[in-house]
Amino acid sequence: MKMHTRVGIVGAGPAGLVLSHLLHLEGIESIVLESHTREYVESRVRAGVLEQGTVDLLNAAGVGDRMRREGLGHGGIELRFNRRGHRIDFRDLTGGRTITVYGQQELVKDLIQARLDAGGQVLFEASDASIHGLETTTPQIRFCKDGEQNEIDCDFIGGCDGFHGVCRPSVPEGVLKVYERNYPFGWLGILASAAPSSDELIYANHERGFALQSMRSPSITRLYLQCPPDEDIAQWPDERIWEELQLRLAGDEGFHLNEGPIFQKGVTGMRSYVVEPMQYRRMFLAGDAAHIVPPTGAKGMNLAIADVRILSKALAAYYAAGDDTKLNQYSATCLRRVWRAQHFSWWMTSMLHHFEADGEFDYRRQLAELDYVTSSRAAATSLAENYVGFPIE
Ligand code: FAD
Ligand code: DHB
Repeated sequence: MKMHTRVGIVGAGPAGLVLSHLLHLEGIESIVLESHTREYVESRVRAGVLEQGTVDLLNAAGVGDRMRREGLGHGGIELRFNRRGHRIDFRDLTGGRTITVYGQQELVKDLIQARLDAGGQVLFEASDASIHGLETTTPQIRFCKDGEQNEIDCDFIGGCDGFHGVCRPSVPEGVLKVYERNYPFGWLGILASAAPSSDELIYANHERGFALQSMRSPSITRLYLQCPPDEDIAQWPDERIWEELQLRLAGDEGFHLNEGPIFQKGVTGMRSYVVEPMQYRRMFLAGDAAHIVPPTGAKGMNLAIADVRILSKALAAYYAAGDDTKLNQYSATCLRRVWRAQHFSWWMTSMLHHFEADGEFDYRRQLAELDYVTSSRAAATSLAENYVGFPIE
């Protein structure tokens, strides 16, 4: 089948779905293609922290109802080291800004529903997507669905297909410059039926490695442990996970880490990655398709949403008056925020993880940095303003 749309979007993750929704609000039609099933993308467990600016954007776009009811507002986080907790008070340090804990898959569910309710096209199980005609003014996306070959002629393509997608590799050799760093560890993440052990997130630096307590609801805890990057999850029976979490999250007297049945586990590697520019001709890369941050700063999903907000505004200016100034500035505008988040995520990762190649000196240096960040208002303010995020242009 042959189709035409203004913006062809590859990927129904946060970037692709928010882009399609924001374009709809601007009166610009789009089609979203997703290789997986709706059930799969709605149950994929990933991020959990939304910056203040992300929450404001989703509310203003009319997709924040359930997030406002079920999301958990947090006014700070705890940094734990030497078995002691130290609170970073976001409200106090940033003039009232906060974060909201709301599972990425819940947001994805809300966005899919909003697109379908508005008559939007989200084509699931669209396999073998490929990009063509990037040198022309009508680039095409070809894909297979229900055994049929399809082609969409587009004015523009939104490359929102994550790190392993097809859009970025479709750019001719030599155009994009890659900046990257790999870390010698990953995170083992679990969801457990247990009440969170504290009201706020706990980021712990321990000699045995990093640990993080987060949550999804008053009865579901989300916990992470630093582990080798290619760790076999079979090496981690539930008892071993709890034993390690108890050691690494041990705190002041009075702190008790609640345990409960584990119903989801997975291991994720860690990298920092940026591609420049985030555009080739009429194709714009957004979210994980263009950049990856290590998860310690909780920035990935927020960056993806900031990118597509900038892109939707640029496309709106183009369709309203033929003005392509903002489209031409898209990459530079996004990259400034991306590199800020890259630095913050690298810094949080370096301060909180155990690096095997490091010695006693480096551990002492980390403790000195944590002591500084938790005792100097200037240093704490820097962490807080980065964590809650900067306003989106
Ligand atoms: P994705 O969510 O990867 O979506 C891309 C979509 O494209 C997918 O649905 C994929 O199936 C689809 N696709 C891929 N290839 C094709 C193709 N060829 N054809 C059609 N469709 C295709 N970020 C935060 O902000 N805060 C956090 O607290 C946080 N914690 C995290 C914890 C973990 C354990 C992990 C793994 C990530 C975390 N992140 C966090 C990062 C966040 O999950 C990602 O940055 C976010 O998913 C990026 O959204 P995206 O839409 O760009 O990409
Ligand atoms: C969560 C994930 C993160 O990467 C992070 O830094 C904080 C919380 C979470 O999944 O809840």
